[in-house]
Amino acid sequence: MSTCTYTTGGEWDNVVHNDESAQAKADRLNNPTIDKSTQELVQWIQDLYASGAKLWTKEMLSNIEAQLAQNPVPEAISIRSRTQVNGKNIVQLLPPSPPVTNSGGGEIPSVCSLTVHFEMYQMIIERAEQSMLESNREHYSRFTPDEIRMLAAQGVRIYFATFGKSSIEYSKVKPSWVQARKNWLNSSLCRELSNILGSTVSISNAVTKIVCFGLGSLATSIENPTRMADDGLPVHGPGTQHAAALTLATVLGERFGKEPLHVMVQDPAYSEADKKILEEVGIEVIGGFGSLGFTHVDEETIVFSCHPNIPVRQIVADIAKPAAMIWNKGRDSEEGAEYKVFERQGKEELSTPYSTDHDSARTRKLLQDYDEFDFPNCYSRFGDLAIYVRKG
Ligand SMILES: C[S@@+](CC[C@H](N)C(=O)[O-])C[C@H]1O[C@@H](n2cnc3c(N)ncnc32)[C@H](O)[C@@H]1O
Repeated sequence: MSTCTYTTGGEWDNVVHNDESAQAKADRLNNPTIDKSTQELVQWIQDLYASGAKLWTKEMLSNIEAQLAQNPVPEAISIRSRTQVNGKNIVQLLPPSPPVTNSGGGEIPSVCSLTVHFEMYQMIIERAEQSMLESNREHYSRFTPDEIRMLAAQGVRIYFATFGKSSIEYSKVKPSWVQARKNWLNSSLCRELSNILGSTVSISNAVTKIVCFGLGSLATSIENPTRMADDGLPVHGPGTQHAAALTLATVLGERFGKEPLHVMVQDPAYSEADKKILEEVGIEVIGGFGSLGFTHVDEETIVFSCHPNIPVRQIVADIAKPAAMIWNKGRDSEEGAEYKVFERQGKEELSTPYSTDHDSARTRKLLQDYDEFDFPNCYSRFGDLAIYVRKG
């Protein structure tokens, strides 16, 4: 099989528009110059997507994870994409390690690691609209038209990413988790959720596990200033969300006359203290490079996520039809979506029209086969979630 080799950090990455004001950037992104070649590229991607070509498959993600897990890490990763052109495979040279820090005695920061980055559909289209702009032509001229199509339509790239991992030790995180879990177990919300999952909804008894994405770090959340919820108790979003995952496991296990369901969680922000605490309560922390969790999602899975920084809904819609999903409500719209300039601390910044877990035509199609139920209303701890249960 022939390949198209590229590297991040220069070749296929966004063109850097130095010294561009926030307003100029908003204008460029909101009103790209759509010439004929841009139109053709965008149309090609839209048609490919409409034909059902997947941006992500489980095989592709497990293959990438297996390559990244090699020791030593290879210089290049082969990405088998369903959006490939003329049978070509993409080979991405891995980016160089990030610069060495001065402060820590010359070591690479431990929070910086190779990570699978997901490019959601809206960003793929936006990038394609931008790539053929007159001012960007030279940047992309090294690729053939086939390579441009293939690279423009790819759903993953590998980066070094920095995650703000908390260094708060176990002995401080544990009491906060114990308190958050106790508060949750004593709450009316916990009873409400237990009733919904324990009797109201009709859920497949073949369900075996709960796979959670982006529930957040227990340790990081205690570093933030304490906020109080309407019930007068402190908000501890990640603590409450992990406690709720355990409740789901217990209630559904009881309902089906089984042991509590297996709970797996993926969040690159987990600290060592988080991992220890979660493992103590029987939660499996998924390792890997940011995509391994998706390889565990199947028809017998419940997916649980709260405001993840990755497009969980779009990825799941490509790879599986879970028994149920508890995740953000499908309410985003691209109609009139615009970048806007706003001021923060005297500086102009850009607000994006897309959430990190934006929905898509494909997520909306997936939900047609699900019944929607309200998630107990507690915005401060869970945000705006809904429960989706596969029909029949
Ligand atoms: C906006 S925070 C929400 C945290 C928590 N759910 C809450 O409500 O406070 C988004 C979370 O997504 C996580 N995240 C980023 N990349 C991820 C990945 N590849 N898989 C799972 N979670 C990820 C971040 O580390 C972060 O904890």
